[in-house]
Amino acid sequence: MALIAPSMLSADFLDLGKDIELVNRYADLFHLDVMDGTFVPNISFGFPVINALAKKAEKPLDVHLMIVNPEKYVERFAKESHASMISFHYEAAREKSSDVIRLIRECGVKPGIVINPDCPVESIFQYLEEVDFVLIMSVFAGFGGQKFIEDSHSRIRHLKAEIDRRGLGVKIEVDGGVDPSNAPELIRDGADILVAGSSVFRAPDPVKAIAQLRGE
Ligand code: DX5
Ligand code: ZN
Repeated sequence: MALIAPSMLSADFLDLGKDIELVNRYADLFHLDVMDGTFVPNISFGFPVINALAKKAEKPLDVHLMIVNPEKYVERFAKESHASMISFHYEAAREKSSDVIRLIRECGVKPGIVINPDCPVESIFQYLEEVDFVLIMSVFAGFGGQKFIEDSHSRIRHLKAEIDRRGLGVKIEVDGGVDPSNAPELIRDGADILVAGSSVFRAPDPVKAIAQLRGE
């Protein structure tokens, strides 16, 4: 069964406690989007918000770094924010990727590598033996509420086939425009973790939306 990771970028920041409770009770992970205004053309939130959320979180924190020089902040997200998973963009690290993965693992956190929709899936095949998960962006990183890019299905299937061919246990996470209409196919493609922002927090009934994403 796929894990559901609500993206807190779409949460109600005036009543964050309520949305934290929703994830604690009905979902599996807190997906936290960290944007620096340089790697992506948007700025989200950082340590004060995430560390406060961490105090109330009863589910693991999945930190998605959309920042340049991710290695600078890995230790703080691990130690201060108690992240369980940290992913960084291959496009932001390139040849430093193995070092960033190693650093994340040394901090006792599960490492993941992320690629945007225009980055060939094969580019990260060389890291499959090193990571715990790959995050496939199904929109361009930077904003919530964008439309799902259909081509993502074949990219996930291609990645899944390579993971299976090598006999690895690497998990696949999908992020961007995920909703109950595309979730069943994403799970069939091989996705293990579904990130969902607007389709959960903007839904009239978020509890129902989470159940629908699970295929219930
Ligand atoms: C986009 C972020 C996503 C975003 C998803 O850069 O990585 O996690 O919040 O939001 P939706 O589900 O609304 O596309
Ligand atoms: Zn994200």
